[in-house]
Amino acid sequence: MDRAVITPASAPLRGIIHIPGDKSVLHRRAVLSLFTRNSIRIGNFGSGDDCSTTLRCMERLGKDVVRQGRDVIISGQAHFASGNLDCGNSGTTARLLMGILAGREGEWILTGDESLSRRPMERVAIPLRKMGARIELTDRHLPARIVGTRLKSVEYDSEIASAQLKSAVLLAGLAAEGITRFREPVSTRDHTERLLGLSPDAAGWITLDPTRIHIDESGLSAFVPADISSAAFWIASAIAIPDSELTLPAVLMNPRRSAYIDVLRRASANIVIEDEHESGTEPAATLKVSGSKLAAFRIHGGLAAQCIDEIPVLAVLAALARGRSEFHDVQELRVKESDRFRLITENLRLMGAKIERNKDSFFIDGGTRLHGAEIETGKDHRIAMTFAAAGLAATGSTVINEPSCVSISYPGFWDDMKRIAPGSVLLEC
Ligand code: S3P
Repeated sequence: MDRAVITPASAPLRGIIHIPGDKSVLHRRAVLSLFTRNSIRIGNFGSGDDCSTTLRCMERLGKDVVRQGRDVIISGQAHFASGNLDCGNSGTTARLLMGILAGREGEWILTGDESLSRRPMERVAIPLRKMGARIELTDRHLPARIVGTRLKSVEYDSEIASAQLKSAVLLAGLAAEGITRFREPVSTRDHTERLLGLSPDAAGWITLDPTRIHIDESGLSAFVPADISSAAFWIASAIAIPDSELTLPAVLMNPRRSAYIDVLRRASANIVIEDEHESGTEPAATLKVSGSKLAAFRIHGGLAAQCIDEIPVLAVLAALARGRSEFHDVQELRVKESDRFRLITENLRLMGAKIERNKDSFFIDGGTRLHGAEIETGKDHRIAMTFAAAGLAATGSTVINEPSCVSISYPGFWDDMKRIAPGSVLLEC
């Protein structure tokens, strides 16, 4: 597939979309399987490339992995054999593994693809080294050489809002001597803490005593709710196209992940939340979304961290909303799978949006009729899906180059789009 050509939706979007399990939850369930010899069955695994990468690493570390339909069964005793672990495009795989392997016996080289090899790793190596870890990076990036060693605990007050960094330290803490304490500048996703039964105290410190940790194995095995970051594209499309009505069953509604929904509801989006329930350690609900006229909104601070993966598609909605929307504290966008700060603002400009930007913020004057353009995706899955959603609501044709990159998180995306917006997607080789 060389390019996808998107033309405006010719009718309101209607139907039900079942989305694969949440990527962040899946990675954590899979890596925590290393700490048990009991078999775990992860429901709604899906077939995204990033999660397959984590599964391949689990196999290299001795686990047996079997796929059964949309479930994955992971069993057997991990042996942590030394060797190379290819983390592909997946930052979560690399950073979580750095934390886990630092305190095991052995020696590993972690590598990644071109995009992952550009992403910052020193931020994770710094606290791990304070714990005694032996981690050599290549000019602060992958490849990383990890020589497992005995770790001591750390008290780390992080200046960076990153759930991957936090998880790496907590996972290293499982093998460390003593009590590890970690605090983050704003609250980020807490899937690791939920699986380890941890929560922050009033001052924000998370305290991990490895002698008292109980990994919730029934939690590891539960059905994984639909990825809210993938649902985000359909929620945006349904809002943007008048008279649409989409139903998204069993979507992850962890309060540290659902900021996107909160922002949109406050901006007058019609999103109905039904059938709220728990699935293992995570809350979920069915979302019913319909066409809405949005007011402008403001993202900043902790809110920016909690919807960091949804900001690309929020920017598209801001361009359609009434008034000036503001995106502050979004500098982390620059170190994602691509420089999303640049690609969001430049691609939206190409589509006719009015955007101003400075170092850490951008501003969008909404109410624009977007028009089709040739989109630079940087092979970034979320940029490709964001601008495909924008294309449904724009005039003319929108060209998405390298559309197969959606397989990182949502391989069925183009099929779902063909079903929900018939005639609007043409995949060209
Ligand atoms: C993730 C954390 C976030 C997010 C990424 C997944 C995770 O990254 O952008 O897509 O699963 O922990 P950072 O931890 O780098 O902020």
